[in-house]
Order: sequence, then structure tokens, then C-alpha cells
Amino acid sequence: MASEEDLISLAVVGALSGVAYWSSNYYIPALGELFIKAHLFGRDLNKSSDAKVPEALGVVAGMVFLVTRILYLVVSSISELAFNYELKRFSHDESAVHAIALMLFLGFADDVLNLKWRHKIVLSTLASFPLVTSFPGSTKVIFPKPVRGVLGTEFDVGILYYIYMSMLAVFCTNAINILAGVNGLEAGQTIVIAASVLAFNLVECFVYGNAVDQHLFSIFLFLPFIAVTAALLKHNWYPSRVFVGDTFCYFAGMTFAAAGILGIFSKTLLLFFIPQVLNFLYSVPQLFHIIPCPRHRMPRVNAQGLLGMSFTEFNPDELGGLGRLIVNVVRMFRLAHVEKIDDGKRLRMNNLTLINFVLYVLGPVHEQSLTIILLFIQLLGTCMAFAIRYPLAWMFY
Ligand code: UD1
Ligand code: MG
Repeated sequence: MASEEDLISLAVVGALSGVAYWSSNYYIPALGELFIKAHLFGRDLNKSSDAKVPEALGVVAGMVFLVTRILYLVVSSISELAFNYELKRFSHDESAVHAIALMLFLGFADDVLNLKWRHKIVLSTLASFPLVTSFPGSTKVIFPKPVRGVLGTEFDVGILYYIYMSMLAVFCTNAINILAGVNGLEAGQTIVIAASVLAFNLVECFVYGNAVDQHLFSIFLFLPFIAVTAALLKHNWYPSRVFVGDTFCYFAGMTFAAAGILGIFSKTLLLFFIPQVLNFLYSVPQLFHIIPCPRHRMPRVNAQGLLGMSFTEFNPDELGGLGRLIVNVVRMFRLAHVEKIDDGKRLRMNNLTLINFVLYVLGPVHEQSLTIILLFIQLLGTCMAFAIRYPLAWMFY
């Protein structure tokens, strides 16, 4: 169970998170003009106005988060010197900060320089190394009860586990960025996932008393993280006055990876990414250019001011064998809207994102309603995650 020292430290983190919310809420809009002057802005593609919206304001949220971590160290040093009272510290605090700071820097570089995908993958793999090299857990995989008679109880996967963790960090950093393009969605989904992970950590810590230190480590990360993200969401919500940028998506992804890997709950963490996993799998044909992928796959506003699907158009004869197979499977199972155009010579298919799939099922909706629907789906994902993590896991493990 959590000790008195844990609770007092938690109260300090909570108070600092309040300051983090207040400062982000102040600095995000205040610095917007400066970003526009530095040519860091985008156009809101689904609005009639051509106004410049400052881009990459996630860097302010990320900086405030990092400063909050440093302030905690300052407060704990003062507490030690002045009152001889030690606040809680974790041995892998620094590894988390290294990985998150590196990713924040990489995201900002991407917003400024528009890096190529191969650079982003290589650099985000490098940024995951501080986490992977200080992973405090075991590399053994425990088999579910029904197969233990045949396979045994556990199996040490060794180096493969480290590769898996590195790939998890790369996935988390890109998963949020490709479920994007609607006002409030990047920051909104992050809040839902972070609040869900926090709820899981609190239950483990204070209800079951399981691996208290690991979960406290994650709680200490998520309180200031939720605070800065909430402030960002406030300004990014429809109609967006700022864009979060790739900076925020990468920063958020690496914070999740840091909590999951160093808090030793990476498999549970993945359960909270169910919509992102579905979006990734649906996107694979376009991400790997098996089917043409335009620069933007976000939905598009129609004449009625509602958002509808966006499309990719191509001649199926110009696709490779795999591309034609995918198109046939998609048509057979009605996984996307596909229609013939140009007298049947070309096909028009909705861009393969979860956002377009929702619009394919529901028809056009208002931008704000679309964000709310997608956040509701994220919440359903959380309910599924808890149903898998607790009742099913008790049955099988
Ligand atoms: C990713 C997606 C892309 C999507 C884009 C939207 C993939 C492979 N890439 O690209 O399909 O279109 O995110 O963020 O899936 N914007 C808006 N409204 C918003 C948010 C963004 O109009 O609510 C526009 C603005 O012009 C903004 C730009 O999107 O400047 C940011 O796009 P960027 O983050 O650079 O796109 P990618 O991450 O490369
Ligand atoms: Mg982006």
C-alpha cells in the first residue's frame, strides 16, 4: 500500500500540476502570435476563413510538463535540506525525461522542417532507447492457463522483448498523429487515454496495492501530463485557435510509452489504444503506399458546412497485385465507400482512416459532433480495455 511519504509526494505533484495547467492555459494563447511571426502556422482546412492558426503549440505544453518535473526536483531538494524530509523519487525518472524531451525536440523539428517518414521512424526508435535500456522488468512472457499444459508457464523471449518495447514506443508516437485532422481530436484522444491509464494506475495502487511503486511512477507522470494537455485541448477545441502539431503527438506518445515501459504495464497500455490500433491496421494499405495516399486524409467540409469523407482516386490496373487484392476485399466486405468514376476506368475510395470510416457509416456530421463521436469511441475502447484487463485476465491468468 502507498506510504505517507507517497501521499505527501502525490499532493506536491498534484499542486504542481495545478500550476502546470494554469501556466499552459496562459502561455499557449499568449505565444500564438509569436509562432505566426516565425511562420509556424497552418490553415484550418475545414473552415471558410483563411485565418492563420498557430501550429506546434504542443511544444509549450511539453516544455511546461518538463519544467514541472524539474520543479518537483527543486521542491524535493528544498524539503530535504530544510525539513530533512525526502519526497518520493524513482530510479528511472531521468530515463523517462530523456526519452520525452528527445521526442518533443524531434516533433518540433518535424513541424519546422517537415521530416520524411523514414527519418521520423529512425529518430523515434533512437528516442525509445533511454526507456528500453532502463526497463526494470523481466523479459518473460506468461502463457494463459488453457495452454500451460502444452507450453509451460512462461517463456523468456529475451532480446525480442526489447525490440517489442522499442516498436511500442514508435507505435505510440505515430498512432495519435495519424488519427488527426479534426479540431480537438489529437489532444482529446490523449486526455481520454491518459485519464484511463491514470484510473488503472489508481486502482492498482489504492484498491489492489499491486506494484505500488510502478504505478505511482506512472501517476506522477500523468498528473502534470493531463494538466498541460487539458489546457492545450481548451484552445484546440472547435473552433481551434491553435494547432497542437506533430510536436504534441510525439510528446504524448512517448509519455505513454515511458509510463507503460518503465511502469511495467506495456501490454495493458496497448489495450487503451484499441481505436488507434484499428486506425493503424485500416491505414496500412495507404501508409505503405500499396494504395495511393494523399498528403491529407482528414475529412472534408461540404456545401452544408458538415464534414464528409475524403477520398483517394486511382486506376486499379495501375496498382500492384496486393493493391488489387486489398481493393477487392474492401469492396466484398464493404469496409469502405468505393465507387467507379471516369466511365468506370478509375475508382474513388474513402481514405482509410477510422475518422472516414465513422463518416462512411453515419454520413456527414458537424466537425464538433465528429470529435465528440470519436472521443466516445475512445471511451468505449477504455471500457473494453478494463473488461479485458480484469474479468478476462483473471480467467486466463
Ligand atoms: C497526419 C495524417 C494526415 C492528416 C493530418 C491532419 C496520415 C498518414 N497523416 O499528417 O492524413 O490529414 O495528420 O493533422 O494519416 N489541420 C486542420 N484541422 C485540424 C488539424 C489539422 O485543418 O483540426 C490541418 C492544418 O492545415 C494543419 C495541418 O492539418 O496545419 C497539420 O497537419 P500535419 O500534422 O502536418 O499532418 P501529418 O501529421 O503529416
Ligand atoms: Mg500531425
